[in-house]
Amino acid sequence: MSFDPSGIIGKSSALQDVFRILARVAPSDSTVLVTGESGTGKELLVRALHRNSKRADKPFVPINCGAIPRELLESELFGHEKGAFTHAIRTKIGRFEMAQGGTVFLDEIGEMDLSLQVKILRVLQEREFDRVGGTKTIKADVRVVAATNRDLEEEVRRGTFREDLFYRLNVIPIVLPPLRERGGDVLILAQHFLQRFCEQHRPGGLAIGDHVLDILSHYSWPGNVRELENFMERLSILCEGDSVCLADLPDKILRETGVEVPKRVVVLHEAGFHWPELKDLREQELGLKEFLDQVEERLLTEALGNADGVKNKAAEILGIKRTTLIEKLKKKNML
Ligand SMILES: Nc1ncnc2c1ncn2[C@@H]1O[C@H](COP(=O)(O)OP(=O)(O)OP(=O)(O)O)[C@@H](O)[C@H]1O
Ligand SMILES: [Mg+2]
Repeated sequence: MSFDPSGIIGKSSALQDVFRILARVAPSDSTVLVTGESGTGKELLVRALHRNSKRADKPFVPINCGAIPRELLESELFGHEKGAFTHAIRTKIGRFEMAQGGTVFLDEIGEMDLSLQVKILRVLQEREFDRVGGTKTIKADVRVVAATNRDLEEEVRRGTFREDLFYRLNVIPIVLPPLRERGGDVLILAQHFLQRFCEQHRPGGLAIGDHVLDILSHYSWPGNVRELENFMERLSILCEGDSVCLADLPDKILRETGVEVPKRVVVLHEAGFHWPELKDLREQELGLKEFLDQVEERLLTEALGNADGVKNKAAEILGIKRTTLIEKLKKKNML
């Protein structure tokens, strides 16, 4: 029993454990429930599961149960007959029918409401369903794989998820560990994504020093692989030099990993700031002092506005002492 995990990057034992279960379960027709925090790669995993199954050459049909309103979800899943409801102008095939012979992926199953859960239970138990407004029962030759980032056992206790459906789905539970529990995978993934995005955005590539790597591997990555992927894309576009330095890391990462937040100009660039140039002074016929005075005055006015005129607060926003602020306001006749 071998499992081809191509596209799923990582060498950690936590991930290898998951691959081992997948290798055993992929060829079977068992229902699988994948749980894991947001961004851990649940969808990637389920696609690999289908690819490694006997149904690989049949359709893989995903549906995000959280993204479709309840009234529409039933007809999306099971289809409807012409005239079943006001807008049912013609008969429509649902996802279960589209997937005949293949796999249906019920993503975010925790979001599905109770009345629809009963119908999924029927598909799992009886292997059949009806189109909305239909009279003939349709056989479902599909494998069902579901995923959620919710704790379904907790939902069962709260009465928002049917206990019978939970047990029926949870035949083979696969728990995808958060990125912070995958050790060295953080760095393998970081390098992988950086290389990929540099191919798109930065032909010269971008290096990452050991110090930065050390910080990345100690950060908790609450958004998991997705957060890391998006962050690497941002670096590949915004980094100023040839290598990633501390000032390129967001405060959130630095603060959490206990690194003193460096003074930076990168933030200004990200916010669309452009350094004043001599031509700006010339265009406005200003000397250096007048120009800087105007910049200062604008920022003071904005800070006072944001602070509703409260000077303590405005000084805090500007990162200066209250007395310094008052001195400046006096000088500029702004008091
Ligand atoms: N091990 C991995 N190797 C490479 N890419 C990964 C890995 N895990 C996740 N990704 C990438 O991270 C992103 C998020 O993955 P995916 O959509 O599968 O997560 P998810 O658990 O379904 O998230 P959500 O709960 O938010 O739906 C995708 O772009 C995916 O390709
Ligand atoms: Mg997903």
